[in-house]
Order: sequence, then structure tokens, then C-alpha cells
Amino acid sequence: MFHDIPSAMIERMAYLEEIDAGDREDGTPRMSCLCQIPPETGQFLALLAAGAPEGAFVEIGTSAGYSALWLSIACRARGAVLTTFEVLDEKVRLAQETFRLCGVEDVVSLVADDARRRLADFSDIAFCFLDAEKEVYADCYEAVVPKLVPGGLLVADNAINHRETLQPMLDRARTDERVDALIVPIGKGELVCRRI
Ligand SMILES: C[S@@+](CC[C@H](N)C(=O)[O-])C[C@H]1O[C@@H](n2cnc3c(N)ncnc32)[C@H](O)[C@@H]1O
Repeated sequence: MFHDIPSAMIERMAYLEEIDAGDREDGTPRMSCLCQIPPETGQFLALLAAGAPEGAFVEIGTSAGYSALWLSIACRARGAVLTTFEVLDEKVRLAQETFRLCGVEDVVSLVADDARRRLADFSDIAFCFLDAEKEVYADCYEAVVPKLVPGGLLVADNAINHRETLQPMLDRARTDERVDALIVPIGKGELVCRRI
């Protein structure tokens, strides 16, 4: 999977990594910054998604499409399609550009809407990556977990760097008997929940 990433995707990833690093240095306001995952988290997500069971692949929080590119690698390898949700018009435009330039429009479906209004449309979720505003995490958790197929995964970003804000959801996951949950110290900290 990682040995044959197309050169157009490597170039776009590098371009987005550069913008993201600049945003963090110059204090670009949160609504404008890309706020994307680091590459090691992308690889981790792709490995998990590649081994997930059959079902829908979902991402909540597209930004410019960086994490979706990593997930698209897993989707391409297994013949799946990722549905990714984004609310901000400017981010939607950037993500459309990303997916077009990287030739992944056949494996990534971008939906310009609040994911909370669409999660009820899914019946069997195999893999979901949650990386949106922290205020929506708890609602998304409650909407996604009942839809996970057995062995299906919900991965939530920022479990370490926003631990205080997310603590109620992290406690909920730890004690939720529908899932086995663990925080993995990679990138900003990934909460990984596997449906029993
Ligand atoms: C941290 S960024 C996502 C970064 C992206 N996952 C990556 O690593 O490349 C969060 C994004 O989620 C979007 N967002 C926030 N709340 C949302 C919601 N309820 N539904 C869909 N997108 C949302 C924001 O507009 C923002 O672009």
C-alpha cells in the first residue's frame, strides 16, 4: 500500500503538509487552518482501514482532504469507497481540488454537509474516522457506535492533545460494553474503538 503511492498524491500531501506547518507557525485562525493529522497518523489509519471488516467507510471532518488521501489508499486496495463530510465551503473547495489532482474521485465521495445530519443514513459502518470540532465528538460517537458492524472501528483524533475537552467521551468509550477501546499515543492521540 505505501510502496506504490502515486506521485501526484505524494506531491499533494507534501503541499498540504507545508501549508499545515505554516498555519501552525503563523497562528492562522482555527476556522481557516487545515488542522490536519500528521503523516504517521495517516499511515496508522490506512493500516487499520485496510484490515477493517466489510461495510461503509466514513470520515467526519475532511478539511483539505489530507487524511482522506491516506484512507483512499486503503479503500483503493480493498475496492471500497470513503464518504467524507465537511461543513465549510472553502475546505470543500480545497478538498475537491485535492481529490481531482490525486485521481481519487472514484474512491472518495465528498459530502458538503454536517455529518450529524447524515450518519443516520448508514446501516453498516466498517470504519469511521472522527476529526471534527471537539463539540460534536460525543454526538458523533453516539451516532456511529450503534452502526458499527462487529469488528468495525471508530477512530477519534485528538484524544491526547484535547484530552480534557474530550474526557467525557473518552470515559464513555472506556466503559461502553459495546466496544473495546484504547488510546494509542501516535500523532495527537487516537482513540480506537472496536465494536464487539
Ligand atoms: C481537524 S479538521 C479535519 C482535518 C482532516 N481530517 C485531515 O487530517 O486532513 C476538522 C474539520 O472538520 C470540519 N467539521 C467540523 N464539524 C463538522 C461536522 N459536524 N460535520 C462535518 N465536518 C465538520 C471543519 O470544518 C474542519 O474542516
